[in-house]
Amino acid sequence: MLLRPGLEFGGDYNPEQWDATTWPHDVRLMRETGVTMVTVGVFSWSWLEPAPGSFDFAWLDQVMDLCADTDIGVDLATATASPPPWLTHEYPEVLPVDKLGHRLWPGSRQAYCPSSTAFQTRAATLVDRLATRYGSHPALRLWHVGNEYANHVTSCWCAVCAEAFRRWLADRYVTVADLNQAWGTAFWSQRYSSFDEIHPPRLTPSFGNPAQALDFRRFSCAQHLACFTNERDILRRITPEVPVTTNFMSFSDVVDCWRWADEVDVVSNDHYLKAADADNHVELAFNADLTRGLSRRRPWLLMEHSTSAVNWQPRNVAKRPGEMLRNSLQHVARGADGVLFFQWRQSQAGAERFHSAIVPHAGTDSRVWREATDLGSVLARLAPVAGSRVDSEVALIFDYESAWALEGEAMPTVDVSYRDRAIAFHAALWREGITVDMVPPGADLSSYRLVLVPTLHLVRDRDAAAIEAYVRAGGHVVITYFSGIVDEHTHVRLNGYPGAFRDLLGVRSEEFCPLRQDEHVSLVGPDGQRVGSADVWTEDLTCDTSTSIMTYLDGPVAGRPAVTRNDYGAGRAWYLATRTDEDTTFALLQQICAEAGVAPATSTPAGVEVVRRTGPKGAFHFVLNHTDEAVVVQIGGLDLVSGAAGDSHHVEAGGVAVISAPDQDSP
Ligand code: GLA
Ligand code: ZN
Repeated sequence: MLLRPGLEFGGDYNPEQWDATTWPHDVRLMRETGVTMVTVGVFSWSWLEPAPGSFDFAWLDQVMDLCADTDIGVDLATATASPPPWLTHEYPEVLPVDKLGHRLWPGSRQAYCPSSTAFQTRAATLVDRLATRYGSHPALRLWHVGNEYANHVTSCWCAVCAEAFRRWLADRYVTVADLNQAWGTAFWSQRYSSFDEIHPPRLTPSFGNPAQALDFRRFSCAQHLACFTNERDILRRITPEVPVTTNFMSFSDVVDCWRWADEVDVVSNDHYLKAADADNHVELAFNADLTRGLSRRRPWLLMEHSTSAVNWQPRNVAKRPGEMLRNSLQHVARGADGVLFFQWRQSQAGAERFHSAIVPHAGTDSRVWREATDLGSVLARLAPVAGSRVDSEVALIFDYESAWALEGEAMPTVDVSYRDRAIAFHAALWREGITVDMVPPGADLSSYRLVLVPTLHLVRDRDAAAIEAYVRAGGHVVITYFSGIVDEHTHVRLNGYPGAFRDLLGVRSEEFCPLRQDEHVSLVGPDGQRVGSADVWTEDLTCDTSTSIMTYLDGPVAGRPAVTRNDYGAGRAWYLATRTDEDTTFALLQQICAEAGVAPATSTPAGVEVVRRTGPKGAFHFVLNHTDEAVVVQIGGLDLVSGAAGDSHHVEAGGVAVISAPDQDSP
């Protein structure tokens, strides 16, 4: 996916917000700070096409030429992320409709219905014009289609979407009888006689049909994807040699990024720290690992993050000195081959005035600017890292459809969230210093020693069979509560929970016994000693072929197994039937890793993250010190950040080292 030798550095550049006289100055500054690529035009539709069919490319010509003259690559947006006022004025039906039937108004961004023909036709015309005009421009390096699809408009409930949903369902089920079966419409007299009677899941008197809700998410994902491919296919036809991306939000509620990742040439992602989370660097690691997974372990681009505070959280915390470098290199450690920001120059007007940028309101006499310039030179020194890979012996199965199905209405408890256990498992391994690959259900697991299966609520037969076959052949697996419960139509698997994994885990559960809010239960080991606590979920579990490793001391199922282990074929399957506390989860995963033969590559103090990338130019140990104390790490080589060489390296509080050495593991 390499776009150029070395790592990319840059950000969103919105020159239309500034007087043309600032542009040459901007581009000179970019050069000074080491910027290699800027994303131009994401929200420029009304500037490129100020009136229907009347185009103004003069300003973009000038910006593209300035970039080319300064050797700055352009990730050129198709500018369709925000329809211009004239489009929704002329075609009000382009505006999306919410679940209650309210049409949203213009005046913000992304105000389009993903099924709108007017939107797609007008977008196609603009994309055609852009591709024709700039296809062979020397600055063009990458196409950036749309922006964060489905970020604001996850789904649209308008009449056009309703009709498109019916067609989508007819394609999927062919007969209405099959749809009735899949949706379980015998329940509450929902039996349909024809596809015409079906609606999107709008506001209803009581709970809607879960299969209908899930299909509507799948449909919405498909509609957004069709908007993307509508533009991408034009670009591929006119500029087949130019790669295409769209910036994912890898934790999306409606975009199944596994499906989308197959449709882009370069996987790119946007990531913003959650200010309220003191350990937000741990969540960053999860997100970066997920993006590497989406990229099928190939390098990817961090398309957006922030130099300092954002403006859309309740309290927008500014980054501490050094934090931006540490965040940036944490993404690189986990496979990013480029670090870009939203945005180059902080807006003076508009809804994002108070969002940080590379050039802040204060100008270049500022800490943020100086740190960005430092980052630019560090990234230039890290050029040999580009193209290298991150290896892992542990996989985590991450599934968007399970999240959609699990987070529906009328479930056993509101306290189970899909991401909770995925993040908890990943965090435990992060603390242990073990890197995790994210994989989709059904992935080839054979290269992993251990596979984590957090709350895989919905599972297809074939995907459950792949996990079973992996264990039979000698793999180790950890599965949590509320996994394997429903099939792809949200129908519950019968004869005891956790349906799809009962045999593999050697357990059977008759009933879920969720806990009250804030209720905790104690866990004891085989010797009766208290080993930890759990909350949210318990179930009435019995061991069949498995062994109980922890039981409940109290709570609704006192005396029952809470954690079990089952030797199965040549492998081993663990069941965590409750939401174990952080230390218990950590201790369990330490034991499970040890049994699976997974160990951290290096041992480091708590809060010091080490990740290794390897490639033809050697091995690179990224050392990220998230603590307030300086540390010394026993890793030999040349630190590409500080320039120091030696058998050990001093990494200051909050600092980073990238230690380069020939890869001993390589032949
Ligand atoms: C998203 C968008 C950007 C900008 C940033 C602000 O990532 O893609 O246009 O709004 O959020 O954080
Ligand atoms: Zn619609």
